[in-house]
Formats: sequence, C-alpha cells, structure tokens
Amino acid sequence: MRLGGWVHRRRDLGGIVFIDLRDRAGIVQIAVGPGAPEEVRRVAGQVTSETVVEVEGDVTARPASMKNPDLATGDVEVQATTLTVVGPAATPAIPVARGKGEELAAEELRLKYRHLDLRRPEMQANLILRHRLAQRARRTLSDLGFLEIETPVLTKPTPEGARDYLVPSRVHPGEFYALPQSPQLYKQLLMVAGLDRYFQIARCFRDEDLRNDRQPEFTQIDLEASFVGVEDVIGYVEAVLVALWDEAGQAVARPFPRIAWRDAMERYGTDKPDLRYDFPIADWTAQVKPLGVPFFQSALGNGARVRGLAVKGGGALSRKDVDQLADAAKQLGGAGLAWVKRQGEQVSGSVAKYFTATALGALGVGDGDAGLMTVGLDRVTSPVMDRVRQEVIHRLGGAPKAAHAFCWVVDFPLFEPDPETGRPVFAHHPFTAPHPDDVARLDSDPLGCRALHYDAVYNGSELGSGSIRITDPAVQRRVFAHLGMSPAEAEARFGFLLSGLQAGAPPHGGFAIGFDRVVMALAGAESMRDVIAFPKTTAARALFEGAPAPANPADLAALHIEVKR
Ligand code: AMO
Repeated sequence: MRLGGWVHRRRDLGGIVFIDLRDRAGIVQIAVGPGAPEEVRRVAGQVTSETVVEVEGDVTARPASMKNPDLATGDVEVQATTLTVVGPAATPAIPVARGKGEELAAEELRLKYRHLDLRRPEMQANLILRHRLAQRARRTLSDLGFLEIETPVLTKPTPEGARDYLVPSRVHPGEFYALPQSPQLYKQLLMVAGLDRYFQIARCFRDEDLRNDRQPEFTQIDLEASFVGVEDVIGYVEAVLVALWDEAGQAVARPFPRIAWRDAMERYGTDKPDLRYDFPIADWTAQVKPLGVPFFQSALGNGARVRGLAVKGGGALSRKDVDQLADAAKQLGGAGLAWVKRQGEQVSGSVAKYFTATALGALGVGDGDAGLMTVGLDRVTSPVMDRVRQEVIHRLGGAPKAAHAFCWVVDFPLFEPDPETGRPVFAHHPFTAPHPDDVARLDSDPLGCRALHYDAVYNGSELGSGSIRITDPAVQRRVFAHLGMSPAEAEARFGFLLSGLQAGAPPHGGFAIGFDRVVMALAGAESMRDVIAFPKTTAARALFEGAPAPANPADLAALHIEVKR
C-alpha cells in the first residue's frame, strides 16, 4: 500500500518509531520497527511534525493490546518498507495535533496561519460538510426545475441595508462599480426575461458591523421563481432546508410553524424567536398597575406597558444572575429590570412587597419560579425582554422542547420608522410587495402597511429572508418616494429595474438562505469563521493574506484616486 500525508505525531519508543500519518480522510499509524530497512529507520528517527511524507508498506493487524478504539483505523497499522520526505516543514507556528484538553491557539494566530489551522480534522470536517451541503442544495433546486445562473460581481448598488464595497473604474475616471449586497435585482430581471426559476450559490458583499454570525463577504443560496405566491416560495425553501438537514443526518418535519411578525414581537420581543423554549413574554400592565409599584407607576402612560416573563424554575437564578440581567436591560436603554421569586407563599425580590403569591400565580409565576419585568415603550421593552429571555435560556438551560425549532415569521411591516428621524426606511428591501390587503393604505399609513415578506428562523437565528416582489412600476415608484427618493433619483439608481417592470413582468418572488449560517448550525460551530476557509476578522481584515492593504501610488494614479490621510 502507498500513502501520502502529513506527520501528525511521532513517538519514538527506542526500538520502534510510530508515526501518525494524517490526510483528509483521517489518521493511520505507521510502524517502523527494528526489522525495517536502514533508510526507513533513519528518516523515521528524524522526521518532524507536519512534514509531508510518502510511505509504502504492508497493512497488518495491531496486537490486541495496541488497538485504538478511538481511531477508525485503530485496529491496523502500516509496516513501512519505504519512507520519503517529499515536503519538509518548518516548525509549525501553531500546533495542528492537540493533546486531550489542550487549548486551541488564539484565533488571530489561527487566522494568520490558516493553512495550518485548516489541517485540523475539525476544520476539515466543517469544510467537507459545507461541500456536501452545497451539492445537496444544487441537486434539490435543480430537481425542482431551478436553473443555476451566475450574476455579475461588478455591478450597480443593490440596497440591502448595508454599505457598499466600491470598486473604482480605471477606464471611466471617477466612476465606480459596487459589489452586490445580493443578486436581488438581477434575479428579478431574470424573471422578467422569462427564465422562470433561478438559483445561485451567490457571494454577497456588505460593509457592515460584523459579529460572530456575519462576514463582509458571505454566501447565499439565492432563488427566485415566477408565477408564484408566498406558499410556493415557502414550499421550495422548506424543501431545500429539510434536504440540507437530512444531508447532515438530522430529520426535520414540514411544514414549519408560522408566526406573524406582530405576535413574534409581542411574545418574544424579536423577529427571530428561539422556539426551542417556552415561556413567552406577556403584557402584565393590567395586573401590575393597581399594585402601585413606584418603579412602574412613574413610567406608565403614553403607551408604556409592563412586560413580564414568568420563568419556570427561575428560583434557581442567583442574585448575581439577576443583577447581570438588569445591567443588560439598562445597556439596551431599558428602565431596568424588576424581579420577584416565589417559594411557596413567600415572595422575595426587588419589588417583593407589592406582590402576593396569589397575584404571582395569576401571572403564571408558580412555586419555585421567578417573574422578571420591565416597563416602557415597546421599542425599548422588546429588545430588553428578548435579551432577558435569551440570557435566562442560556443560564437555566434545561431541556429544550425540540432540538430543531424552525419557524416562518410572516406579515412583516413594509417600512420601519428610522430610530432617529422617524421617517420610513425599508424593513426588507425596497422591492418587496405590500400586502394586498394594505396597498390602499400605502400613502395614508405607510408604517401600518404589511409586506409579503417572510423570514425562516431556526433556533433563534435568521437563516434567510424573502418576499413576493413589486411588479407594478407605479407601486415601485411610490415605494421609492416613501423612502425619500425623488423620481429622478429613483430613475438614476433603479431605471433598469423600472424599465424591466414595464416590459411585461410576471408575478414573482424568492428567497435567500444564508448558507454560512446553515453550515454553522449543522456543524455546531460557534463562529461563522469556523465554516469559511478564509474568513475575515470582526474588524473586516484578512489576516492570512493581509488585506486590506495600502495600494501602490502608481495603481492609485491609474484609478484616478488620491488617498486623504
Ligand atoms: P437578506 O439581506 O435578509 O435578504 O439576506 C438573506 C440571508 O443572508 C444571510 N446574511 C448574512 N450572512 C453572513 N454575513 C452577513 N453579513 C449576512 N447578511 C445576510 C442571512 C440572511 O437571512 N435579496 C434578499 C433575499 C430575497 O429577498 O430574496 C436578501 O439578501 O442568513
């Protein structure tokens, strides 16, 4: 047998040297005993970690006492008859092989020496899973009649709510391409062109604040279809998601439950509720107001409400837990967090003297439970109670109701008020169709209009988003106007879309699944960076290749660009 791979570990037991040889498929033990050829023993005696070697030898069963049940190849070893160094390795900057309990290198180093980090079996498993999921998505959509079509990367801005990455044009001084935030406009124009069902595993670029589940360039499974309504698109996306979970060995049932945006905000304080756990947020205003709690009394009125969370088993929250929750609430601009715990007839906590056990029982706070509450306008209390609920889930854990809690959030508003100016800004993107029941109110009450927009949520994370699109150019112009665009500006930015919509546009809609988020969920990764071969840091830097970097002056001059320091 002939093998090639990397020296994962070498153990020299005096008379015999064992080399763990590693490649993409795993690890196999090479044995170099006293009977091995002289040259083989010489190389085995010196070879260092991460060197690339080629080995020839015979596969033999290991003696019973030497079998390793933790290794797929643990029953056998290869008795080397030749051993050649084909790729000498400098001392690795970060370890690839780790002992039990040994910490990973710091992430900065892992990103800088990515070629070494990617040698780790865990990282290889993530990328292998990613490959399989991409193939399965392709197969599933292709079987459903979707065509894979590439759209350009040097384009005009496609607004999805982030800043654009711009690319200067050399031949047209002062003009710029934008990298696409998504293929949104192209896929709509493919529908106008009659291609009917499109998909793409598309790279998107967004200059926005990064977090663990966001990258400046990321991948979507993007799709669009003609002559469809909400139900059709939801059906296609469910088919893809169920197939992807199946590819990872997880059975998921369809259809996914649905929740209206308004109900999600009311019961979970967020449009991406984690439905693995019960205990929704409730409106406690009516019950709490008569109790005369000063903390609430002064804040109520003008639309403020008391919103509470009855936490089963919340008696187990420590004083420190509760203080940290209250701090988190304040950081989000909330008035703070009042709390009570119930132990039999005893009530303790920051507002204990206003509550009897019976009053708490009426709010769903039973024996051994806690009640957490805050007061204010919904726009403040929703994020506060969402955060509190998430923290409580994190701290109390407990068995979730289900391992995979998918849901559809539907009936989003078409516009949201800008937090600073109060002006309408788009909730999804400006091409989303208003709900047919609300179109008549588009001009009189834009903020009260719902949209044909739906999000797929999984265990509290937004996996994807989509909508039925505006196909009436007049409606599209009115939406642009609500977003503060003059007709001339709308024409300059989106004239190509408007002229497409005037050319005979079929009803159409689509969706984009955040592929990196899917892989992250299925790989059980905590960071998106662990499922992308060469990701950026949260400061949008590529540490491996060292980007971004200053450009040389001659290149800048050719691009007609001067850098202001
Ligand atoms: P949206 O902007 O909601 O919709 O994006 C769809 C999904 O893409 C993922 N996503 C990201 N993943 C990693 N890093 C990011 N910076 C990032 N931003 C978004 C999320 C998100 O749910 N054109 C529309 C889709 C449509 O209407 O068809 C769009 O792009 O999982």
